[in-house]
Amino acid sequence: MFKNFKNKKVLVTGHTGFKGSWLCVWLIMLGANVVGLSNNLIPERRNLFKNLKLKKNFKIDLCNTKKVSNIIKEFKPDFIFHLAAQSLVSKSYNDPLLTFNTNLIGTLNILLAIRNLNTKCTTIFITSDKCYKNIEKKTGYKENDAFGGDDIYSASKASTEILINSFCKSFLYKKNNLRIGIGRAGNVIGGDDWSLDRVVPDCVRAWYNNKSVTIRNPKSTRPWQHVLEPLSGYLLLAKKLSKSSRFNYEAFNFGPKYDNTVLDLVKKMSLCWDNKKYKINNNKKFKEAQLLKLNCFKAKSLLNWQPTLNFNETAKITIDYYKELLINKKNNFILMKSQIVYFQKRLKFK
Ligand SMILES: NC(=O)c1ccc[n+]([C@@H]2O[C@H](COP(=O)([O-])OP(=O)(O)OC[C@H]3O[C@@H](n4cnc5c(N)ncnc54)[C@H](O)[C@@H]3O)[C@@H](O)[C@H]2O)c1
Repeated sequence: MFKNFKNKKVLVTGHTGFKGSWLCVWLIMLGANVVGLSNNLIPERRNLFKNLKLKKNFKIDLCNTKKVSNIIKEFKPDFIFHLAAQSLVSKSYNDPLLTFNTNLIGTLNILLAIRNLNTKCTTIFITSDKCYKNIEKKTGYKENDAFGGDDIYSASKASTEILINSFCKSFLYKKNNLRIGIGRAGNVIGGDDWSLDRVVPDCVRAWYNNKSVTIRNPKSTRPWQHVLEPLSGYLLLAKKLSKSSRFNYEAFNFGPKYDNTVLDLVKKMSLCWDNKKYKINNNKKFKEAQLLKLNCFKAKSLLNWQPTLNFNETAKITIDYYKELLINKKNNFILMKSQIVYFQKRLKFK
């Protein structure tokens, strides 16, 4: 399906993060030459990156304009997947400056660097479903809905969208060698997420230690999807863009077909892990949207993309991963590879 990435030079920013590490494994399996750019490697992923044969790992701050520019100038990537971000709503309340610097200025640095490229390069910018002005829309946000953001993380992602649009219209439209796409995905779950204040890692940390997990906002609805779903969308968008300018500067939503609450997800995961316990705390730690839903008709009709796994499978392979890793002490590189093989065989689009 993604044979076009074989021997291609691919830069992944945020490669040490949850989505970035899965994307690196997938790209390596596809035969790409991958270079990573991140500012940090958490201890849980040290082994993974020892096993992964990346061409280079750059440990730099995305806000360093000169260093970002030099890496892109020297590597001349065929593809860039820009995932690096301060990705947590909770942290954005504690550190708005870091959140805006990383998400907005970091993206500006990527844009400035690719503007100077004279080689062919397709860049996919990863923003979020949270870039939309939240009006609790039941039919799901469409790509041309208004941007907004009542919390700092969401505002940083909405601002990033406006920046990408203005930069493309101001500077990149004359550059035939550059292709730009934007991916807006819903809440992603899967093995190897170790972030704080995210429901899956919170459950895993408690359940592995035989404790009950306390969940907040049980009735909040989120577009939960397995990490490989949006990654399949980003890869597909990059592949199509590299072949045709038809979708240049277009944004696409990538989300699930089903709607589920936090409680639905925790119940389903608990069933997959010997009915592990959970408690509900209705006191809100910080303000978050109640209903988030994406309309993914554009990705289906124009890219022929659609989600592959149903909600049960998503919860099951997520919990299977953590059980294999933590209880059976399997290696995260092998686990990711085997789940990618499983997912690729079942891809709903060809
Ligand atoms: N995980 C989700 O549910 C979800 C949902 C929608 C959108 N997203 C977006 O997808 C992208 C990836 O998310 P994730 O869950 O993998 O995030 P993550 O927090 O697991 O990883 C973030 C990555 O960015 C890097 N990074 C952070 N600040 C940096 C800086 N200043 N300089 C260089 N590197 C820096 C980190 O080292 C890490 O590699 C982000 O843009 C995020 O906003 C995530």
